[in-house]
Amino acid sequence: MNIDWSSLGFHYTEPEYIVRAGYHNGKWEEPYATTDKYLHLHVSATCLQYGQEAFEGLKAFRGIDGKIRIFRWKENAKRMAKSAEGLFMAPVPEELFGRAIHLALEKNLELVPPYGTGATLYFRPLLIGTTPRLGVGPGKDFEFIVIPSPIGPYYPGKFHCTTFIVNRYVDRAAPYGTGQFKVGGNYASSFRATEAAHMMGCDCLFLDAKQHKFIDECSAANFIGIKGNEYLTPKSSAILPSITNDSLMTLAKEMGLKVTRRRIRLEELADMSEAAACGTACVISPIDKVEDTEKGVTYSFGDEPGPVLSKLYHALKDIQYGRAEDKHGWTEVFEI
Ligand code: PLP
Ligand code: COI
Repeated sequence: MNIDWSSLGFHYTEPEYIVRAGYHNGKWEEPYATTDKYLHLHVSATCLQYGQEAFEGLKAFRGIDGKIRIFRWKENAKRMAKSAEGLFMAPVPEELFGRAIHLALEKNLELVPPYGTGATLYFRPLLIGTTPRLGVGPGKDFEFIVIPSPIGPYYPGKFHCTTFIVNRYVDRAAPYGTGQFKVGGNYASSFRATEAAHMMGCDCLFLDAKQHKFIDECSAANFIGIKGNEYLTPKSSAILPSITNDSLMTLAKEMGLKVTRRRIRLEELADMSEAAACGTACVISPIDKVEDTEKGVTYSFGDEPGPVLSKLYHALKDIQYGRAEDKHGWTEVFEI
């Protein structure tokens, strides 16, 4: 395949193979690779009618030593099992999830971007309800699919600042609702806000849906802020437990930062020296400004990534690319 790896953005490149496994009569079938990217899906499938769907996102990296490393896939498997539980779907067993990822990688090795290009191989595991139903309720048949695609940076530029906009018109997810799960509906419900922000070259920072007082998260990432020697990140029942954030919290502690996860009032941004979105797709994406257009307030963090977040960004990337020791066993070297 002839791919200009360095100019890839966060867009889909068709892989040769995807991996699928069905769940019928209470049993998962063994994952298999197929070149067919289309589903023969019943028009009344519960994923279509009632949004019974969950997904994941994880990456494989070509390291400095030429080896391929998959980052913390077991955490994605655990989170997908929680999303499945949240939407009354059959959980994908961890070993099956792992076998599907490994098979997707093995069948698409030429899609792992070369070291130094800034691109990675992204896996999009997807779980959908396939039982035909009209009566409101969950189905009993499911399909698990892994779609690999090489991707570049989520936000344009490698380590570059993005402006976020706060709005109080569109809520992403309610407290104790589906925000804690990685389900498609959360993203669809945020489109009205995110598309408006994208038109202005920005992204959205969502507040808690109950009071619009506290920071929840970004549209596709957790929020982190640096205040003095403290790494601050929101605690909320409406946000996704980010694996990247979890990794960064560990690294931050090792760097001597105090790590605090608590409710964060929007106005506290004024006391922060650095802020960023963090997630698998966006890694750490520094924020230059948060604009609260309704209140006419802008919180500024400087046009360049700050020193603390830069250090964390490089520490994480060094582990992912095999440039630093992986003390926590976060990466799995893929042996063919
Ligand atoms: N929050 C949301 C809404 C996301 O879509 C993502 C991306 O997966 C994250 C947070 C970050 O999670 P992770 O670091 O596990 O990718
Ligand atoms: C990720 O960071 O992996 C995501 O899935 C976020 C988004 C692209 C949906």
